Amino acid sequence: MKSGPIARDGTNSVLNLIGNTPLLSFRRLAADVAPVEIYAKAEWYNPGGSVKDRAALAMVRDGERRGLLTPDKTLVDATSGNTGIAYAMIAAERGYHGRTLGALSATADKKYRAPFEPLPIPSTHVAWNSPEAIEAEINEGTSAIILEPIQGEGGIHVAGPGYLPAVREIATRHKILLIVDEIQSGFRTGAPFASVAMGITPDIIVTAKAIANGFPIGLTLVTKEISESLPGGAHGSTFGGNPLAARAAVETLRIFREDGLYERAATLGAEVVDRIEALQHPGIRAVRGKGLMIGIELKQKSTPVMRGLQERGVLTLSAGSTVIRLLPPLIWEPAHVDEFMEAFEDVLS
Ligand SMILES: Cc1ncc(COP(=O)(O)O)c(C=O)c1O
Repeated sequence: MKSGPIARDGTNSVLNLIGNTPLLSFRRLAADVAPVEIYAKAEWYNPGGSVKDRAALAMVRDGERRGLLTPDKTLVDATSGNTGIAYAMIAAERGYHGRTLGALSATADKKYRAPFEPLPIPSTHVAWNSPEAIEAEINEGTSAIILEPIQGEGGIHVAGPGYLPAVREIATRHKILLIVDEIQSGFRTGAPFASVAMGITPDIIVTAKAIANGFPIGLTLVTKEISESLPGGAHGSTFGGNPLAARAAVETLRIFREDGLYERAATLGAEVVDRIEALQHPGIRAVRGKGLMIGIELKQKSTPVMRGLQERGVLTLSAGSTVIRLLPPLIWEPAHVDEFMEAFEDVLS
């Protein structure tokens, strides 16, 4: 990259204090995809997914510290008499939010948590798809609920009808922030955000993976109230919003929209699910998902099937020991579905 003219006019500086032209375009596009009530002015563009979750969780703490978001949560420690702000979080069993320290507090799996305990944010993990389980866990220290609309690493489990709206109502009633982690589900389920398509407006949405077609950039969308509660510069990073990443995101979002890739993800995803169900294969326990975020649960370990697919040029992921996860690129076309099905049937036989 040539530095002279770019540095002189300042608009394409990599210095995060100055901003850059691609970043301005990205802000505009991000505002377009954000749900109406979400304030897309104060996004953070740090790389990666866990970093986004960490930023979201840090916002909860900041908001509380300033007494803005949960004004009635100052607690007095019964033994020491000290006053302090309690903050704790409710997340879901099987939920995955990354492996940086704050995000790890929300991740359920012991395998990831154990080496780093104690974790900074006390969290409880409750049964998935049960608003009652969340309600039962709320106490005076609860500050946030964090959920994926479709659990990814946990095995592709889609929030049931009514689950997120019920959680939204609970969060609002208890003045608790609702953070929705769309790092994996963002842009691939037939809409920019699965949670919004399910009828809710979260307080914070984090998203990353697909937004620049795999190039590292993440986006945190927050409500106006949260945005205004944060001191300037509270959540920045050296490379956050750098022009190359912002440019990659701008192009990706443009292509998603202009080429109708949200709609195509919905149609092709439904076709894959239908075709797998139609196989009625005895080795398949279930197939579930939304758009191009699909899990095939087998009655056996998934590794041999995944290896077979790989030998036939199809790359898949596991989600737990028996689920094969399909997260294909959004530029998938009908011919790719045929290619996948051919390889899958071949491996199963
Ligand atoms: C829902 C969700 N949140 C957070 C993360 C963490 O993202 P990263 O691995 O980029 O830190 C992931 C990664 O798989 C994810 O699926």
